[in-house]
Amino acid sequence: MKHFIDINHFSKKKIEEILLLANKLKKNPKKYSSICKEKTLALIFQKQSLRTRLSFSIGMQKLGGNYLELNSNDIGFNNIRESNSDVLNVLSQYVDCIMLRNNNHQKLKDLAELNVIPVINGLTDYSHPCQILGDFMTIQENFKKYKNINISWIGDFNNVSRSLLHLQNLFYFNLNLVIPDIILQKSKKELSKYSNKQLKIYTDPIKGTKNSNCIMTDVWVSMGDKNKNKKKYFKNFTVDKNLLENANKNVIFMHCLPANREEEVTSEVLDGNQSVVLKQAKNRMYIQQAILIYVLKK
Ligand code: CP
Ligand code: NVA
Repeated sequence: MKHFIDINHFSKKKIEEILLLANKLKKNPKKYSSICKEKTLALIFQKQSLRTRLSFSIGMQKLGGNYLELNSNDIGFNNIRESNSDVLNVLSQYVDCIMLRNNNHQKLKDLAELNVIPVINGLTDYSHPCQILGDFMTIQENFKKYKNINISWIGDFNNVSRSLLHLQNLFYFNLNLVIPDIILQKSKKELSKYSNKQLKIYTDPIKGTKNSNCIMTDVWVSMGDKNKNKKKYFKNFTVDKNLLENANKNVIFMHCLPANREEEVTSEVLDGNQSVVLKQAKNRMYIQQAILIYVLKK
């Protein structure tokens, strides 16, 4: 049984295949318009979502499949009315795969390990692999070759940046991880697992974005993050015009969205010419479709 939980569970070749399929889906959507006929995807969101909700549901419809959004409380997916594994076993009698967004990565992994139905990670506290694959597709559309470009992540070490590290550990592109010192100290042990020559870690945004071709950021406090004092760690971390000017001339700005304007990014940058945030949002759909085809294919 195939699941899509984290990028680092896959080989580089498999991720390249998913990306290639996503590009084909974008170029020739008609060819795939009935590939998921008679298949049903269940979507369960235990946190808010706009892009993931739309890209999975509309993406599935465009593949000729059906989708069903289930509210965890309504179906008793909380280990109280009945066990989660009983819920999953029952779900598997009606639907062909589930996408779950939750705040407990271990629970998602446990569900996948039951191997009763393909499980897709639609974001957890730990990772957001669908986002990063969509972003890599957007980067490749912009630069054709990712090998010589410099990507700078500036912000929190969170679910999105962790998935970016997972991808970097397969493709070895140049990545500067620019995070506040206090977060670096807390994450040192985990970050050491990803160490390689192309990965550099900075705490100074100016140094970490110099000559960058791609600056990526995200909210400073993610959904479900209990550390509400965190914002004060990010002094000088706002992506503004000055930071973009410090980077390469051809720099693009990326953000998974939703954004907190004037916090991690100024409106001037978010809405500016170098911003590709809407392309990122659109590419999510082709990536979700490629992942659906991958997990549903026998
Ligand atoms: N980027 C992203 O996953 O957006 P949503 O939280 O709106 O799904
Ligand atoms: N890091 C953000 C990503 C939202 C798509 C969060 O988890 O809230």
